[in-house]
Amino acid sequence: MAELIPDAAAIAAAARLLEQGELVALPTETVYGLGADAENPQAVARIYAAKGRPANHPVIVHLAPGADIAYWATDIPVEATRLIEAFWPGPLTLILKRAAHIPAAVSGGQDSVGLRCPSHPVAQALLREFKGGRGGVAAPSANRFGHVSPTTARHVRDEFGTPPQGPLAAILDGGQSAVGIESTILDLSRMASHGPVLLRPGHISPQQIADVIGVLPALPDAAAPRASGTLDAHYAPATPVALVAAEQLPGLLENAASTGKRIAVMNRSELSAINSVAQYHMPATPEGYAHDLYAALRAMDAVHADLIVVEALPATAPWQGINDRLRRAAFDSAGILERLALTGI
Ligand code: TXA
Ligand code: MG
Repeated sequence: MAELIPDAAAIAAAARLLEQGELVALPTETVYGLGADAENPQAVARIYAAKGRPANHPVIVHLAPGADIAYWATDIPVEATRLIEAFWPGPLTLILKRAAHIPAAVSGGQDSVGLRCPSHPVAQALLREFKGGRGGVAAPSANRFGHVSPTTARHVRDEFGTPPQGPLAAILDGGQSAVGIESTILDLSRMASHGPVLLRPGHISPQQIADVIGVLPALPDAAAPRASGTLDAHYAPATPVALVAAEQLPGLLENAASTGKRIAVMNRSELSAINSVAQYHMPATPEGYAHDLYAALRAMDAVHADLIVVEALPATAPWQGINDRLRRAAFDSAGILERLALTGI
């Protein structure tokens, strides 16, 4: 089937494909997801095969608004109920103890399950239609393992091809994702022993969570459930990425020009006379920056420069989720600058 324009008929067709065990890419407010029936282990296995993702990495189960959480999870703490009231539908994923009848395939064999109710209208319409609103759609970000997440349908086609070519049965095009970075992930599966633990920062901040449950989430400990978005090298384009302080940018670009290196730049401050093969002037606010981040990384990757240089951002709370993604995209900044002989500036 070709790409679907998501009217009611297209949503229904996509729901039927999911019910038949096929893969459907869907828009969410964070990033596009690669969806499959969460209760069909063969369908979930196809997600792993398409992404090239290790089978022990859990995926998030997406639920329709008003879904019965107790069908999916057990020992649900009161904090979960409060956070769901405050932030669902929206970019918050909760890790809870998995109900016994939910296949272990969705949680990479762990005894937990990640649940989220997305706010994107197309995602919601699909989730309401799929199994009459009582199903769950397992959906990691619709990119190959370790790559940059997709925020448009075009990005998904760039990763997997245009259906029916490639592993997807359909792609629902819901425009550009509004938030632009993946959901905040909060582990509540070990409340009694560890309290709430932040597994991945995102648009919903630790302070917003604390305002609802009265306690700031802790950072992950060694025994925390695994989250692949928390690996060191992740969200990475093919071109090496280096994070560079604003004051060092002009010198680095001069140095690169004199040694014939081709540099793509993502700057936030004003730069005069940028000596680069490509440039993306990033938005000034955290919301605007997050919205553009993955599209910018993909655009800069497409010019096949020797290096993508990203101007380092403030280390303040509103930038936490973005800094987390950039740090992983630029996981070997120092080594890369050294190999390109761009250090010592
Ligand atoms: O915004 C998002 O969360 C997007 C959209 C599509 O909803 N999804 C997304 O999925 O980012 P993915 O698979 O790329 O990242 C999901 C993260 C992974 O790091 C995974 O390990 C973690 O959620 N996760 C899912 N279920 C989990 C579980 N039971 N325990 C621990 N981590 C879990
Ligand atoms: Mg991902």
